[in-house]
Amino acid sequence: MSKTVVLAYSGGLDTSVAVKWLTARGYRVVAFMADVGQGEASVAAIRRAKAAGAIRVIVRDLRREFVTAYCWPALQAHAVYEDGYLLATALSRPLIAKHLVETAHAVRAKAVAHGCTGKGNDQVRFEVTARILDPSLEIVAPVRVWEFRSREEEIAYARRHRIPIEVTRRGPYSIDENLWGTSIEAGVLENPWTAPPSDTYRSIRPASRAAARAATVRIDFRRGVPVGLNGRALGPVALVERLNALGAAHGIGRSDMIESRVVGIKSREIYEAPAGAILLAAHTDLERLVLDRELVAYKHGVADTYARMIYAGLWFTPLKRALDAFIAQTQQRVTGTVRLSLFKGRCLVEGRRSPHSLYRERLATYSAKDQFDQRAAEGFIKLYGLPYEGSGRRTAGRGGR
Ligand code: ARG
Repeated sequence: MSKTVVLAYSGGLDTSVAVKWLTARGYRVVAFMADVGQGEASVAAIRRAKAAGAIRVIVRDLRREFVTAYCWPALQAHAVYEDGYLLATALSRPLIAKHLVETAHAVRAKAVAHGCTGKGNDQVRFEVTARILDPSLEIVAPVRVWEFRSREEEIAYARRHRIPIEVTRRGPYSIDENLWGTSIEAGVLENPWTAPPSDTYRSIRPASRAAARAATVRIDFRRGVPVGLNGRALGPVALVERLNALGAAHGIGRSDMIESRVVGIKSREIYEAPAGAILLAAHTDLERLVLDRELVAYKHGVADTYARMIYAGLWFTPLKRALDAFIAQTQQRVTGTVRLSLFKGRCLVEGRRSPHSLYRERLATYSAKDQFDQRAAEGFIKLYGLPYEGSGRRTAGRGGR
């Protein structure tokens, strides 16, 4: 009896060819399609998978789970990889892998497969997650081992086997898209000195062609979760979609970076994440209003670890879970509203308020309303500086060195 394999199927050329390739090797292929907001026409993709030999195509709308269980924790942690990547692709992989494993169990498959190459991070994320959740599953990675050495060879194979691949010429880039952002690489971008051509702008308008007038947006948070825009409650998916459109129109959320891949190489990627950029600016600002100094500083140190774990496919691991507990604890007071202005590629916080605000105007003011005891500062500074008193006498003449 032939083995059943559940393939993470995107509808693109690689995974369409993979359906046929696996079928030809004796597998019964169940194609699993996750909707994470990539906005691709799934009707044609389903037909393509069937034409390529899939015995079943399973489509799941994972958008809400993606935003609430993956994007929100990353937002609350302020997870940004190497200062520029909000981790859209990386966040979607453990979610898709989890559902791939669940689907394998549901259809009694003994194997799962993906269409990632052997040079990228995504193979690591899919496989590490699958092994964490069920080490007994066989993992097949056709693209890593098959005979095709170019896209042209894959297209020829698809034609030979009458797989209806889209004849419309594919763009010059490799693009991965979901609700949290878009990743754009390859083609002319492989030269790190080459400026990104205008066709690398997917949803975002270049700042020079952004909306002529600034927009103001108010974002409401409840315990660290964005719950409303401009005073209106919005569900997670609608809220991200709305901010993506708004941010894109104002040129917000692009980055162009050289990044360090898990497999050891440097690569060049363009990212677009308008909603993420706006939410991150707002959430970070609100935290500064409601969290004390030590917590802000300590949490800042956690952000980088959290980002690197997401990037490296370590979502379902003990340290990540422990950090989640810490971050969840910090979010209890992160309730309030942040007002931002969006204009020509810039997103600036203009105002913030919270029932848990630690800001006391009567202490901060320079007006007659001041209640800060300035005389207390004298004794405070004496003791605060005591450990260092006199220690600079000999070195002051050398600029303190
Ligand atoms: N470099 C990003 C990551 O590892 C995105 C990978 C997919 N990018 C792409 N353009 N297909 O998360």
